[in-house]
Amino acid sequence: MLNIITEKLPKYAKKLDQIIKPIEKELFLLEDNLTENLKSESPDLDKMIRYFFRSGGKRLRPVIVMLFSKAINRGYLPTNNFELALAVEMIHTASLIHDDVIDNSETRRGTLTLNKKWGAKTAIITGDYVLSMALNKLTSINLLAVEMFSKTLNELCVGEILQKNQDYKIISMEDYINKSERKTARLFMAGTECAAAITPNSNNLMINSARCYSLDFGIAFQVIDDILNFSGTFSQIGKPAENDLKNGIITAPVIFAVQEYEEKGDFTLRKLIETRFKKEKDHKKALKLVLGSNGINKARLMAKNYIQKAVNSLDVIEDNCYKQALIDLSWYTVERTS
Ligand code: FPP
Ligand code: MG
Repeated sequence: MLNIITEKLPKYAKKLDQIIKPIEKELFLLEDNLTENLKSESPDLDKMIRYFFRSGGKRLRPVIVMLFSKAINRGYLPTNNFELALAVEMIHTASLIHDDVIDNSETRRGTLTLNKKWGAKTAIITGDYVLSMALNKLTSINLLAVEMFSKTLNELCVGEILQKNQDYKIISMEDYINKSERKTARLFMAGTECAAAITPNSNNLMINSARCYSLDFGIAFQVIDDILNFSGTFSQIGKPAENDLKNGIITAPVIFAVQEYEEKGDFTLRKLIETRFKKEKDHKKALKLVLGSNGINKARLMAKNYIQKAVNSLDVIEDNCYKQALIDLSWYTVERTS
């Protein structure tokens, strides 16, 4: 467990659009290339892909890949790194499309999921297609990229099955972090580490900084995502709030809440969850207990600790506007509401 930082936490001040200014042009290009590069021989697939990307997204993974690449390469983004940024967003997209099928989700980014609109079969094929195009892109970079991402995809699957098999179980914080690292942080890590590895003139210090930064960033990102499932609204998070608990997905706020109640000898929350909310109002009762505890605050503090660690990992990188953007983006992530 990390040491709890209680003071001197930078208060996030900048908005996301200000933070990403140093890669604004590249992001526009990325947006065009995403749909353009995913064009297929099938108008049906094209329709699905256009539909998915129309609903937006923060493009955080490519943002980090591009910022890190520019931070260690005097502001220049090599073509391979740009292609890598595209591949990472494609893999993320494929994983979300499949995740929505697995979770039977109806909405993402404020619009209907592919599975809701066209059915699970169509959604699975679309996810497969996007993944195949990402792999194609990676082969155009080099074999190292293919190797790194094949291992990462493996981790994503392990993380996802862990989550599926842990439903309605009060897992330990260690298990929760392990799962979050695999299903979310590893993809951030692969993108950033690979970016550092393929950037001309980079060195082991930079590659290690990329690994550590993005792994801790990714864990914090998932913790905040899980907090927003309790504290956010539909219009903020683009999907129904409070759904994780209802579906038995036990996340950081719940784990902290269960600990807090059990320290006082109250096992109600655990029982409600472990009996899978068998009575109609059980889920609402459990929700009230989580919201009435310090679970969310403790989870946010934990995320801040991971972010502080991530930011510290950037110390070896020379100061420039791209490194500063990575730092700002990190603090934005813990303060974000969407
Ligand atoms: C969303 O997390 C899902 C993931 C981070 C990973 C999903 C991984 C897979 C489906 C396995 C790999 C598959 C492919 C095609 C690469 P979340 O459920 O916490 O977020 P959400 O609430 O937005 O759905
Ligand atoms: Mg999900």
